[in-house]
Amino acid sequence: MVTAPDGLRQRGPNLWTYEEPLRFLGVEIGRIMTVVRLSSGGLFVHSPAELTPQLHAALERLGAVRFVVPASKLHGHLYMEQYRAAWPDVELFAAPGLDGRRTDLTFDGLLGDTPDPRWATDIDQVAIMGNRLLTELAFVHRPSRTLLLGDIGYHIGPGSPLRTRLYARLVGVYRRIGPPIDYRLTVTNEATLRRSMHEVLAWEFDRVVPGHGDVLETGGKRAVLEGFGWLW
Ligand SMILES: [Fe+2]
Repeated sequence: MVTAPDGLRQRGPNLWTYEEPLRFLGVEIGRIMTVVRLSSGGLFVHSPAELTPQLHAALERLGAVRFVVPASKLHGHLYMEQYRAAWPDVELFAAPGLDGRRTDLTFDGLLGDTPDPRWATDIDQVAIMGNRLLTELAFVHRPSRTLLLGDIGYHIGPGSPLRTRLYARLVGVYRRIGPPIDYRLTVTNEATLRRSMHEVLAWEFDRVVPGHGDVLETGGKRAVLEGFGWLW
């Protein structure tokens, strides 16, 4: 796959990713935004990156941004205000709890288990329940068979810097797709989480775009099964 000079990388039909640096506890863990061009022509942006002039121009070339969604109240809500400023017709969506955290924003909808009819042709979604602190949304882009995750999908591999690899080992996400240990420790209902993850695994997907780390181009379903092995 070739990354264009503007940083957008086409991953599949009507699917692009864009990576930006992010330091967490002094460790570089990066962050991945996903852009889907819907059958209707508009763009669906997941976990928006800072809207630099280059990124703005790159998105304009793909279409008009219509919908911007986070993964959770903690992941993927930064910079939403920049997208509203750039595309006045854009609709911003909140994950459970995000509307209380981002009172500076007016949201157009709250994400749950049912995809908005305007993106349901291309994208399905599931609310990942069972954690005390966090309800994350998982999305699947059906045409490219791609699963989009946030903090329940770290995927740090050998290509990452040493400190990142050490951190990943420490929190249990080195070379596996899954949530860090702090998420596991705040799971209050494993049966509920298992039900949510079974819904995810029932989707047809092969590629996984994690919230942090490396995109897995193929074998994604097996990787999620193994990464959540502690849950089965
Ligand atoms: Fe995150």
